Amino acid sequence: MRPVILAIESSCDETSAALIKDGKILNNIIATQSVHENYGGVVPELASRAHQQNIVPVVENALREAKVGKEELDAVAFTQGPGLLGALLVGSSFAKSLAQGLGVPLIAVNHMQAHILAHFIEEPRPAFPFLCLTVSGGHTQIVLVRDFLDMEILGETQDDAVGEAFDKTAKILGLPYPGGPLIDKYAKQGNHLRFEFPKTEMQGLNYSFSGIKTAFLYFIRDMTKKDPDFVQNNLSDICASMQYTLINMLLQKLKKASRQTGIRQIAIAGGVSANSGLREELQKQSKKMNWEVFIPRFEYCTDNAAMVAMNAHYKYLAGEFCDLGVSPQPALKLMDN
Ligand code: KG4
Ligand code: ZN
Repeated sequence: MRPVILAIESSCDETSAALIKDGKILNNIIATQSVHENYGGVVPELASRAHQQNIVPVVENALREAKVGKEELDAVAFTQGPGLLGALLVGSSFAKSLAQGLGVPLIAVNHMQAHILAHFIEEPRPAFPFLCLTVSGGHTQIVLVRDFLDMEILGETQDDAVGEAFDKTAKILGLPYPGGPLIDKYAKQGNHLRFEFPKTEMQGLNYSFSGIKTAFLYFIRDMTKKDPDFVQNNLSDICASMQYTLINMLLQKLKKASRQTGIRQIAIAGGVSANSGLREELQKQSKKMNWEVFIPRFEYCTDNAAMVAMNAHYKYLAGEFCDLGVSPQPALKLMDN
């Protein structure tokens, strides 16, 4: 059965390797870097070093666990971008040398496309065309997905990504990085109507999250001036209210995109799609809007090589290979490789 592909993901703070055989994911090994916890965000140089340490054991683990020998590989795939240059360099250099050593083709994968193709790892799979809200630490996009490798951005953030808004909120509250999962956790026990934050309205299907981040910073600063224990005593309500506002902003444009295109197959992808509030709200809206909603398993929402492998599978079938001179692209656009 063909093709057998090894895929490597190293765009940010997860070193991951996965094997795919004839379109079926065999495994998905992920080494998460905890070294960034105390910095409020990913420190690029620390990320590169951790990738260098992790890449050999992670790839060896993936091959061993799947009982696949290197000589069985038909191609090696890697994340070309977008992402951190140093982090991407580790994955791309490794993939290039392995492909060259084995004499097999090399496949460069776009990280944002890969997040969307995570929907084809398991059933139920969306039918084309569908809309995908891709929400990660670096991106917030509404994408029209016409085919596996044919996508168009209908709207996107003009400044911060929604994941960044989650992480900055957490940082302001004194919580460690990545803050998204913690905001999610505390929000579950809180009252989402307790505090109100100003939403920025953008034209068309675009987003902006920098205004709400600044408003939140001033709100916390003012409240703690009056009561130094304000955050500590109201953490759940603060998290619930902020999360509710961010989700509302996301959903408002997604609904608009669905109305404009007439498409009711709606998917979410990327790290923030792991958010339980967003997942619940999407299910609620599916009834109101008559949507068929697609939400990946948690493991396939945040960065992972299985989604890269899925993307590589379709590129292999389409004959989209790259040469060994290919370089990482930190600011790669959705359809640019
Ligand atoms: O897709 P991803 O793993 O990496 C990028 O490509 O950026 O996304 C990471 C982002 C971070 O901002 C993280 O805080 C956020 O996803 N995230 C969450 C949750 N889990 C991860 N945000 C909100 N709620 C969550 N449960
Ligand atoms: Zn990602």
